[in-house]
Amino acid sequence: MPTIENPTEKTLAELGIREPEGVANQFVTVRAHFDGQFQTVHDESEWKLFRDAWLGRKSGVLALITDNWLKPASPELKRAVGAGLNELRAHVEAEIEARRAAIEAESEEAAGAKERVDLSLPGVVRPIGSRHLIRQVFQEIEDIFVSIGFSVVEGPEIETPYYNFEALNIPEFHPVRDDMDTFYLQLPKGAPGPLLLRTHTSPVQIRTMEKQQPPVRVIVPGKVYRRDNPDATHSFMFHQIEGLAVDTDITFCDFTGTIEYFVKQYFGANVKTRFRPSYFPFTEPSVEFDVSCIFCGGSGTASSGGICSQCKGAGWIELFGAGMVDPAVYGFVNYDPKRVNGFAFGMGIDRLAMLKYGIDDLQVFFQNDVRFLKQFP
Ligand code: PHE
Repeated sequence: MPTIENPTEKTLAELGIREPEGVANQFVTVRAHFDGQFQTVHDESEWKLFRDAWLGRKSGVLALITDNWLKPASPELKRAVGAGLNELRAHVEAEIEARRAAIEAESEEAAGAKERVDLSLPGVVRPIGSRHLIRQVFQEIEDIFVSIGFSVVEGPEIETPYYNFEALNIPEFHPVRDDMDTFYLQLPKGAPGPLLLRTHTSPVQIRTMEKQQPPVRVIVPGKVYRRDNPDATHSFMFHQIEGLAVDTDITFCDFTGTIEYFVKQYFGANVKTRFRPSYFPFTEPSVEFDVSCIFCGGSGTASSGGICSQCKGAGWIELFGAGMVDPAVYGFVNYDPKRVNGFAFGMGIDRLAMLKYGIDDLQVFFQNDVRFLKQFP
């Protein structure tokens, strides 16, 4: 609102003005006041307040001048007041309208500038990640087996004890269960159970044979869980690929030949393989496959002359367990054990990745440190 001592709230008589010159002077003062105040109007909300202060019907400055100066003016001064008021009104209205147009144009321009796309600016470069090394190794191994006629199937990570143990010829209280002492799910009362996180991918052998008649040639990539404390070679979750081949004429030679083919494809043509007797309840005979040490070339001697730290001088590195499918397993899936035979294997992907890529700590796979991940683009 204009000035503290507002002359427009008084009549001319109260202001002591009796001459037309005095009236003209008053209008000059009011107009100067308007011009001064008008400098501070920059945006739409300031403009609205200002417009109401000057042109408001009841208490705008021009309304006050009409009420206080014009209406009660003596006949001698009325002309001068009327002329001054008309001139002031024309000025005020023209200025206010001009400022409105200016503010509007300015905000349109600002909005336009915001929307305009500068095609010469460089784009935002987002670093593109890569597949995790474990995924890459899964793919490598799957490709090798798919190329010799295996297909890839998957199974659930939450299993029943039947698929994880019993149907694999591991009855309750069988001592191998101790190795696999694992995570059981806490289920709501009355829910069917028990259920556990699978300790190996072998239950998918059963699930596959239940669904399909021989010939069967599958590999099963997936996650498995055991109650192991994390260290450089253990984790409560790790990855396996299961393999299963069942037909009417599969020999032990087919079995070892397939494994040897795979190991050479994966580690290189120069490596040798061997197998040692082992034990799994669902294979008979069971074996453990080894590869000639890929760090010392199988010599057991490091390039420095000392004992190879990787194979501890043995020249061999343990790879994974396997065997011919135990006929007892066929009983669980209604295959005729007199007619069919086959082999199975279960390899740890994390271990195979560590060996091939020279990684000495399993935990780096799960830490998601970009400095590690970047090394395997
Ligand atoms: N399931 C076994 C394990 O996790 C590995 C295995 C699979 C052994 C298939 C033989 C045949 O230890």
